[in-house]
Amino acid sequence: MCGIVGYIGEQDTKEILLKGLEKLEYRGYDSAGLGLLTKSGVEVIKEKGRIADLRNAVDPSIESKTGIGHTRWATHGIPDRKNSHPHQSESGRFTLVHNGVIENYVQLQKQYLQGVNMNSETDTEVIVQLLEVFVINGMTTVEAFRHTLSLLHGSYAIAMLDTGDQGTIYVAKNRSPLLVGVGEGFNVVASDAMAMLQLTDQFIELYDEEVVLVTKEAIRIMTLDGTEIKRAPYTAKLDMSDIEKGTYSHYMLKEIDEQPGAMRKILTAYTNDQEALAIDAAIIQAMKDADRLYIIAAGTSYHAGLIGKQYFEKLAGIPVEVHISSEFGYNMPLLSRNPLFLFITQSGETADSRQVLVKIKSLGYPTITMTNVPGSTLSREADHTLLLHAGPEIAVASTKAYTAQVAVLAITAYVVAIQLNKEVDFDLRQELSIVANAIQTLIDSKDEMEQIAKEYLETTRNAFFLGRNLDFYVSLEGALKLKEISYIQAEGFAGGELKHGTIALIEEGTPVFAIATQKSVSLNIRGNVKEVVARGAHPCIISMEGTEEEGDRFVLPPVHELLTPIVSVVPLQLIAYYASLHRGCDVDKPRNLAKSVTVE
Ligand code: F6R
Repeated sequence: MCGIVGYIGEQDTKEILLKGLEKLEYRGYDSAGLGLLTKSGVEVIKEKGRIADLRNAVDPSIESKTGIGHTRWATHGIPDRKNSHPHQSESGRFTLVHNGVIENYVQLQKQYLQGVNMNSETDTEVIVQLLEVFVINGMTTVEAFRHTLSLLHGSYAIAMLDTGDQGTIYVAKNRSPLLVGVGEGFNVVASDAMAMLQLTDQFIELYDEEVVLVTKEAIRIMTLDGTEIKRAPYTAKLDMSDIEKGTYSHYMLKEIDEQPGAMRKILTAYTNDQEALAIDAAIIQAMKDADRLYIIAAGTSYHAGLIGKQYFEKLAGIPVEVHISSEFGYNMPLLSRNPLFLFITQSGETADSRQVLVKIKSLGYPTITMTNVPGSTLSREADHTLLLHAGPEIAVASTKAYTAQVAVLAITAYVVAIQLNKEVDFDLRQELSIVANAIQTLIDSKDEMEQIAKEYLETTRNAFFLGRNLDFYVSLEGALKLKEISYIQAEGFAGGELKHGTIALIEEGTPVFAIATQKSVSLNIRGNVKEVVARGAHPCIISMEGTEEEGDRFVLPPVHELLTPIVSVVPLQLIAYYASLHRGCDVDKPRNLAKSVTVE
């Protein structure tokens, strides 16, 4: 949430920062701004709306070789120009962009900033005003910067300019992601390496409570108390084609189409020299040592976790609890004697999940992060990492990361089951290859999904998704996908729950999507469909070869019964995509959302 960029070097900064912000727009798109250091001070340009609006507002004649930029997902203060970043100190000497939340900003303002004119409703402005007050009181900029940071409670990634020191970008990080990129004769700052990949693939990771002074030639990292730290850069292994839309009109469609390829990459990554599925031996040992697995996740990743529970329990016989990360902190269950924690997070940056990880680590329990982003915060901080290998996911609505999560969960449970000498009577490698082909068949039937979206969802206000057993979890994900990008009120629920309340909402023409891939409950779910049809619903049954019946709207190619979620979710992703498209919504950047949720 919120993206930050910075550049210091010899080139014209405007275009570099704008291009960087375009790559970070997935992190927030309520407003955007630039702070450009010029001979006469810092030129601040801010606009409500998208980077394209900011681009139009930038005067091409401004000359600047050092600057910072920000794209905002509003937390404190409505998304308008006044609350957009950068924020400046009263005299204009300091200019600052921030990603994160400062929890004690009101107290700090009362304590230190009486008499200072505040120009916004944000927590961020307090940081920049504090800096100036401390400098006025005699501190150097770097002392004031470190002192200010030491007073902050909360999360921050910060880039700051000082007109009194034109050769430095001041940078700091705590619980919000930030990297420094290394170039020849220039250096950069970015929330995500992809923002600056056009300039460099060499990046230095920053850790919490670190301060960095970035000049054209040097990068000085230090702790808040001033102790200098040396850290070598790493090479960001990202391909520009992974992060470009190419010929696609939307990232979401590109990412849906990438799912068969992602399945194959996952299979390659988790196959050993003996052509058998394999995972890190330390993870297997951790699973063997555990008497209960606690899966912690949010949103779509939580939905994948619900399926993972079935895999670990049914294949490996390990008891599992699945928890929503934001709830876990205050509703912590009684833990077993030897718990193991598995964090599922596409981005590896979700603040709700991270706060649980921090707590669990402080209790001394073992942790694993399953993520799509190597080097992400949760990956770095957990004991072990399971990578998703899905490639960068940029559309706000998660698609390929979800199917990758379910596949990697299946692989992990399967490998652990074999290690625990459980009876496993199928070849998962082969079954996942069949899954990859089945997804491809679905992708090739896009027109049919578009037709369903038009027929059922073009004008409706609400829609329901139902399923039983594994299909129930997919119905939750189908509903989330539809609501987040089309703004149709959508609800997923267990078929059996229908008569306990939800059926009251069924009216003439209400679209009801029923997923019927599970043989053992196929008849029950069809019974539920009859109940809603009797009350006027417009049903769309999605079944699978082997469970199909006449009149089903779509029949999926057959796959192993445990793996059906990876396949049955694909038509729901496509239906959501086309519903959003035909209702004129912004598919990749739905309102009020951001890709990487780095605030709690
Ligand atoms: C929905 C979606 C979100 C994320 C959630 C957790 O399409 O993408 O619900 O799943 O914000 O994000 P990660 O997985 O990055 O922790």
